[in-house]
Amino acid sequence: MTHRCYDGMMPKTNATEHHFVSSVQNIFLFHFRKENSDFEWTEELVLKFIDLYREKEVLWNTKHPKYYNKIKKNDAWLQIANAMKKATDKCCKIRNLKSAGDILELLSRSRNLNKTDTYKNLSPLLGRNGLIIADADIWRVHRKKISPSFNKKMLENSIPIIVENTKILVEQFKNKVDQSEFGIREFLDNCSLDILCEITTGIKLRTQESPELFYKVTDEILHALNARILQPWLRFDFIFRLSKYGKITRDFVKLHRNRQKKIINERKKMLKNCEEVKLSTEGCEKMMPLLDFLLKESNFTDEEIEDDVLSIMFAGQDAPAVITTLCLYELSRNERVQDKLLDELKNNILNKNCEPTFDDYMNLKYLDFVIKETMRMYPPALFVGRKIDEDVHLPSGYFLPANTSAYIFIYKLHHDEKYYPNHDEFIPERFENIDESYRYIYIPFSAGVRNCIGQIFGLIEIKILVSSVLLKYRLLPAIRTKKIRLEVGTVLHCLDTVSLRITSRKL
Ligand code: HEM
Repeated sequence: MTHRCYDGMMPKTNATEHHFVSSVQNIFLFHFRKENSDFEWTEELVLKFIDLYREKEVLWNTKHPKYYNKIKKNDAWLQIANAMKKATDKCCKIRNLKSAGDILELLSRSRNLNKTDTYKNLSPLLGRNGLIIADADIWRVHRKKISPSFNKKMLENSIPIIVENTKILVEQFKNKVDQSEFGIREFLDNCSLDILCEITTGIKLRTQESPELFYKVTDEILHALNARILQPWLRFDFIFRLSKYGKITRDFVKLHRNRQKKIINERKKMLKNCEEVKLSTEGCEKMMPLLDFLLKESNFTDEEIEDDVLSIMFAGQDAPAVITTLCLYELSRNERVQDKLLDELKNNILNKNCEPTFDDYMNLKYLDFVIKETMRMYPPALFVGRKIDEDVHLPSGYFLPANTSAYIFIYKLHHDEKYYPNHDEFIPERFENIDESYRYIYIPFSAGVRNCIGQIFGLIEIKILVSSVLLKYRLLPAIRTKKIRLEVGTVLHCLDTVSLRITSRKL
């Protein structure tokens, strides 16, 4: 069988001619070629590059004419172009690949487990050893150690913690009943942070009751991280350091890592007291938080433990919060779906005499479809990237040479008309007909061995949050809000405030 090397599919002219192929589809591949060191990033080429990205709506924010004209007039551009050349000596080619078979081949094997360089943007925040970005050798050891802590018992034991924090959220919404529309993201961020911090470290943060700077900083940091993806010149450390995003990142890292160190030290002391006095303290008696488990049962260094906890806190806080926010937003705009879901909740949750169990939540089928549809439309991780460490022949006929970086653009995949007709509409029922064949077409948690470790925990959390809010309040659309604009980047980031209105529900 002859394979088409995607490299060979470019019209060959000469070794130094470079094409920016305008196709950003389900998978896009950046092919960096070291041998093209005579390549010049001229101002014209950089602008062409940006044009391409604007056209394909990857650089969404550069669509703003003010912003674009500013870039165009900026004399520093030529310097940046040259810096880009010096820093990389790379040529970027983009090709589109669309088949589920290709995605399966890329993600399902126990190879190509290293993340692409783009993830390094996260290393000031998360360190180098945490699960999200660690190189495959370190990652294997850490994943093996941590995976068992996400077992069914842990999930069952975490329900009271989720429920307790959800009650605070529901109570806080009381002040908003029959008022004008309000932004819900901040509430869910605080709640999700409190839940995760208690599950992971055993510490009750109580951000919901006394919100700290955390939310504000998270929002800014997400924007700063995305800027590094959206504005290619910021990928170079020296440019990034000089930018406002560099400062935001430095400030955040200082705050975040200090906070984490404090939490770890507090927990160490608490554990020591527990052992010495043989008294159970808050957290020790019910379930073992991940941090305790790592401190007691692993031989990881303090720095490694810190990186793992940071990774889990980062990944586990944002995704459930953003999905719940957007799920409530979609429900507020879709009366039919809201009513149908309420019926399911009334029949299966409200009619029970005791607190719903893990299995009760898992068996709520329509709620499952509603959350799945939210994650289809708004996947929190917009893409996943893998370094290709050995040559790969994809079923579609493409050939990925070793040392290529491959990205699967989950957002585009989830919005492909071929798989999801009327992709811009919120239709939970579409999941009634989705079977195994979609295993690599629907991938909000990625797929294969390096998939999301917290997926079931995240799902349970979202299910409890959505059902608790819905049983208490009727959700109404915001009067002023139009469709939410999203920013493409490392993780999904809403450019607009996600707002809705609520009234009390009498059941
Ligand atoms: C519920 C919504 C969630 C979604 C949609 C989601 C999505 C993802 C995706 C797509 C990845 C793969 C990233 C990549 O390869 O670049 C991932 C990895 C990860 N997620 Fe989640 N996640 C969710 C919730 C959580 C929660 C609640 C936790 C923690 C409690 C968590 C912890 C992690 C960690 C540690 C990784 C790295 C895993 C590894 O490389 O071994 N996630 N997640």
